[in-house]
Amino acid sequence: MIQPTAIPDTPFSQPTDALDSFSPRLLDWFAENGRHDLPWQQHQTDTPNPYVVWLSEVMLQQTQVTTVLPYFARFMESFPSVQDLATAEWDTVAEHWAGLGYYARARNLHKGAKQLAEIIDETGDFPQTLAGWEAISGVGPSTAGAIMAMGLHKYGVICDGNVKRVLTRWAAIEGDITRSATTKTLWALAERLTPVDDSGRFAQAMMDMGATLCTRSKPACLLCPLQEDCLAHAQGRETDYPVKAKKQPKPSKFSDALLIENENGEILWLQRPDNGIWGGLWSLPLQFVEKVDGKANNKATGKTTANKSAMSDDKSSSLASGVRSHEKVYETEFTTGEQIVHEWLIKNKLVAKSVSNTLLDDAPIKHSLTHFHWYLTPRKLPIKATQITELNEKLVAAEIDFKWLTEQTAQDSLGLPRAMIKILE
Ligand code: ADE
Ligand code: SF4
Repeated sequence: MIQPTAIPDTPFSQPTDALDSFSPRLLDWFAENGRHDLPWQQHQTDTPNPYVVWLSEVMLQQTQVTTVLPYFARFMESFPSVQDLATAEWDTVAEHWAGLGYYARARNLHKGAKQLAEIIDETGDFPQTLAGWEAISGVGPSTAGAIMAMGLHKYGVICDGNVKRVLTRWAAIEGDITRSATTKTLWALAERLTPVDDSGRFAQAMMDMGATLCTRSKPACLLCPLQEDCLAHAQGRETDYPVKAKKQPKPSKFSDALLIENENGEILWLQRPDNGIWGGLWSLPLQFVEKVDGKANNKATGKTTANKSAMSDDKSSSLASGVRSHEKVYETEFTTGEQIVHEWLIKNKLVAKSVSNTLLDDAPIKHSLTHFHWYLTPRKLPIKATQITELNEKLVAAEIDFKWLTEQTAQDSLGLPRAMIKILE
């Protein structure tokens, strides 16, 4: 990788006057053209609220402002203080988070709230140092810097994805941003550019720049206060930055989502274990489907094929429609609850019917998670009271958290992952 060429008087690829004028130019632009009405912003108050900044920053870590806005409003309404969040039940927090994705963030948020409430009990206040914030679950160096700067009006430096995009372009930094050497360069540059006495406003301005001007695919360089000395712009190569190692294509998994329905029209819901996909959230029982020649094996043979450890031998040829050949077919791991359901299905020779043969079989629900695409096919399974008693007994014996709820009640009262809501719809 080509590293930026240092200018003789600085360790960066930009000269002193460009480095020095960066923040005044950015702050002038922000005053005129930045966003000043986001509900978590604290730059127009003398008494900033670190809870609000911490909460919003965690929500904004992997999610866009427009998506976060209604979630943030609901959180603030239900949990106006960190103590309210710390003492809330996990199910309530999960239900508030449902749909925002990356559920580990919600678990960290709840854990972080408990840590913060404890610190406030002991010290009478929120953490006041960078290290203090970095010790909170789910708070990394950039989030901690943002909270210091924006939530406490102290000195703090941010270097998140938005900042990295702006800085790699402005300074033509060619290094792969997933590498630690490049990360170090970017942090050093961010620190050099951040004004010590106005770091909160600067942080907000950098975020706004990245989100509204120096965007991923169509930077508005003509409106940009950094345009005159932006090296990527001078090269006409704005979108070549940031340089990032190519990600491996995501593999695919296939599952049936069972709508096991009792005579009252209630469906079985299982709470997923804390670790793993959708940790701590409620889900329909999912069953791995082995694919053969683009068809689910259980459709062809009338039985559910599943195996906890075995991988399908013919995984490269067993591709569903719409799945490209470079994507591998993986099996879904069973949770203990799903394993029990699965064994019970086999024992009772029960076969789940597709909800709609015409529509859903051809276009099962595709849901993309961080590490794989998940193809889910909803299957209905109405069962008799006697069979339910047996299933309930097995689930109770294994200490599985489960509920029988109608679709509507489940939607209203459980924290459901977005894929489950897609299925119910
Ligand atoms: N992205 C991360 N933090 C943000 C903030 N405070 N405002 C807007 N976008 C953000
Ligand atoms: Fe980004 Fe263009 Fe501004 Fe450079 S000139 S920082 S590429 S918006």
